[in-house]
Amino acid sequence: MACQATLLVTGATLVTPVGAFAADLASADGRWVHVGPAGSFGGQAAQTLQADGLTALPGLVDVHVHFREPGVHAHKGTYASESRAAAAGGVTCVLTMPNTNPFTDSPEQLEVVRDCARQSVIDYGFHFMASGDNLDAMLAVRNVASHKLYLNETTGITSPLADESRLRDLLATGLPFMAHAEGDTLDMLLAVHAQWGTGPLHIGHVALAREVEALRRVRAAGQWVTGEASPHHLFLDETDAARLGPLGDMRPTLKSAADVAALWEGLADGTLEAIATDHAPHLLSDKQRVPAPPGVPGVQTMLPLLLDAVAAGRLSLQDVARLTSRGPAAIFRLQGKGQVTCGADADLVLVDTAAEQTISNADQLTKPGWTPFDGRRVRGAVVRTLRRGEWVYADGEIVVEAGGQEVVVGR
Ligand code: NCD
Ligand code: ZN
Ligand code: ZN
Repeated sequence: MACQATLLVTGATLVTPVGAFAADLASADGRWVHVGPAGSFGGQAAQTLQADGLTALPGLVDVHVHFREPGVHAHKGTYASESRAAAAGGVTCVLTMPNTNPFTDSPEQLEVVRDCARQSVIDYGFHFMASGDNLDAMLAVRNVASHKLYLNETTGITSPLADESRLRDLLATGLPFMAHAEGDTLDMLLAVHAQWGTGPLHIGHVALAREVEALRRVRAAGQWVTGEASPHHLFLDETDAARLGPLGDMRPTLKSAADVAALWEGLADGTLEAIATDHAPHLLSDKQRVPAPPGVPGVQTMLPLLLDAVAAGRLSLQDVARLTSRGPAAIFRLQGKGQVTCGADADLVLVDTAAEQTISNADQLTKPGWTPFDGRRVRGAVVRTLRRGEWVYADGEIVVEAGGQEVVVGR
C-alpha cells in the first residue's frame, strides 16, 4: 500500500550534520515517515509544501533557556510568550532552567512547572535544581534532563553551591548534571568530577579561552564532560558590553576578542558540542534598576545570527545542524529529537539563506521585546517552523495556540 502522509515538504535542500541534498520529507502522526531525494516520495500527502529555494534544517534544540514560569518572575516571560519567540527562531524543543522563584527543587514544584509548560507551542523538557540539600527530591523526580548546579552568583542565586564535599556527594550519585561554573570555580568542579564523578556533566555557557582549554584537556583524558557556547558570547565581546550597558550584561559577562576566538575554535574542533541560547528574559524596566539583573533574550535571534556566520564563512550549515540539533539532543538523550530520519519527530525549520534582514526590537516576540542585537544586519531568515508535523510558525506568524509536549529523556 502506498504511504499515506499528513504533510510532504518537497524541494528544499535538507542539511544534516553529514551532508545536504534536495529532499522529499513526509510526516504522519508527528513523525518522519519518508526522508529521501526530491521526487522519491511515491505516496499520498494530505498537504504538500513546495519549498524550492529554501534550506531545511532539523528543528533547533535549545538546551538552556529561562522561561520564568511559574512564580513571581512570570511577568518577564512565560511558556506561552517565550515558546512563541523560540518557534519564530526555528527552535522546536527547549530545556528550561530551575532558577525560577520559587526554584524547581521538589517533585511537587516540578508538577507545577509541568502545568505551566502545557501552554508552550514547542516541545520542552526540564532541568531540576540541585541545591545541595534536596538529594531525595533529585532521586525522586522523573524525566528531567539534568540536575543543575549553580556555583556562581547569577539571577536568583545568592548563595551558590561552592562546597567541595557536597559537590563530591552529588557527583558520586551518577545522576546527569549541568553546571553554571566560571573560571576557577569550573576548574574546581572539573577536579571534583574527575575524582568522584560517575555520571555526565554538562557545562553551560562556556565563555573564556581558559574554560575551553580546560574542557579540551579533561575530554582528551576521557572525562564525561560536555560544553555549550551561547550566541551572545560568540557574536559580542567586551567592547559591546561597554556600548550596551545593562542590555549587554549577563553571567558569564562578555569577554575579550581572544576568548571569542577560542569559543569558535572549540566549536570547530568538537570540544564544545552545542550552541544554546541561555535565553534569559528581563524587562527593560528590570534592566533599568540598579543593580540590573544579568541575562539577555536569545531564542529568536540564534539561528539568524548563525546563518549570517555561515554566509560570512565562519562555519558551515552542517556545523549549524550538528551544534543546534544533533549535538544538544545527544548530550541530554532527548528521544526523537535532533535529526531528520524516519521515525524521528517531524521537527524542521525552513530558512532562506539569501534573505537579508535587520534584527530589531520591534520584531521580538519575547515578553521583554528587546534584543542586544537590535540594529544588526544579517543574511539569513527563518521562514517556517514545523513541530511534530504541525506548522507552528509560518511567514511571520505563530499559527498554533499551544501543542508542545514534554520530551522523553533517555537513560
Ligand atoms: C540567567 C537568568 O537571568 O536566569 N542570567 C544570566 O545572566 N545568564 C541565569 C544564568 O544562566 O546564569
Ligand atoms: Zn548560568
Ligand atoms: Zn542560564
